[in-house]
Amino acid sequence: MAKTEAPVGAQEWVPPEPRSLDDLKEAAADCEGCELFADATQTVFGRGAPHAKVVFVGEQPGDVEDQKGLPFVGPAGRLLREAVDDASLDPADLWITNAVKHFRFELRGKRRIHQNPGPAHITACRPWLVAEFSLLQPELVVILGATAGRALLGPSFRVTQQRGKLMPWPASAQHPEDFPVAEIQALATIHPSAVLRADDRETAYRGLVDDLKIAASAVK
Ligand code: URA
Ligand code: SF4
Repeated sequence: MAKTEAPVGAQEWVPPEPRSLDDLKEAAADCEGCELFADATQTVFGRGAPHAKVVFVGEQPGDVEDQKGLPFVGPAGRLLREAVDDASLDPADLWITNAVKHFRFELRGKRRIHQNPGPAHITACRPWLVAEFSLLQPELVVILGATAGRALLGPSFRVTQQRGKLMPWPASAQHPEDFPVAEIQALATIHPSAVLRADDRETAYRGLVDDLKIAASAVK
């Protein structure tokens, strides 16, 4: 029965007055805000420039990220870096994080198969995102795919309809009060893993880069 209970959420592990992103990262390492910490190797916190103007939000760490403890260091990360470069975004001016900070998977034999995080995991993990935004105070957030969209905008988010458009955020979220942070802009696009899975990879990749060019045009 315990499995169906709502997770307690990350809030009690978030330091009340973190001085730095390193403080947050250290605290997040001990998070038990939902059950995902139990089977994953470690918390995968965001990384990048502490004064980044642009924050990228992905879904959750994958297998490689879970083992290395760093976000977007596997195949999706390689593709993302290439797209960032092709869109002329400055890679030194980014912070890259995930909506959910532990890897959710199902064991099939010895293989760990990625499972999408559920709404309860997204909600449980949100205090870490809020804390990251409060310290980073970026100008723009780039939402990578459906999970990040649900985390930052709400459950009615549809990537096909909302991608490639600048929107005010958190004002455009279903519950802006979930994010007590300064008003900035958001831009949603497809997740780099969706490009890797696409039948027509080239077109999907071009779409990702076109969206990221709009992101690039929104930062000074
Ligand atoms: N996919 C994500 O959403 N995040 C990662 O860190 C890696 C793959
Ligand atoms: Fe905490 Fe998020 Fe990990 Fe759940 S997924 S244990 S809320 S860091």
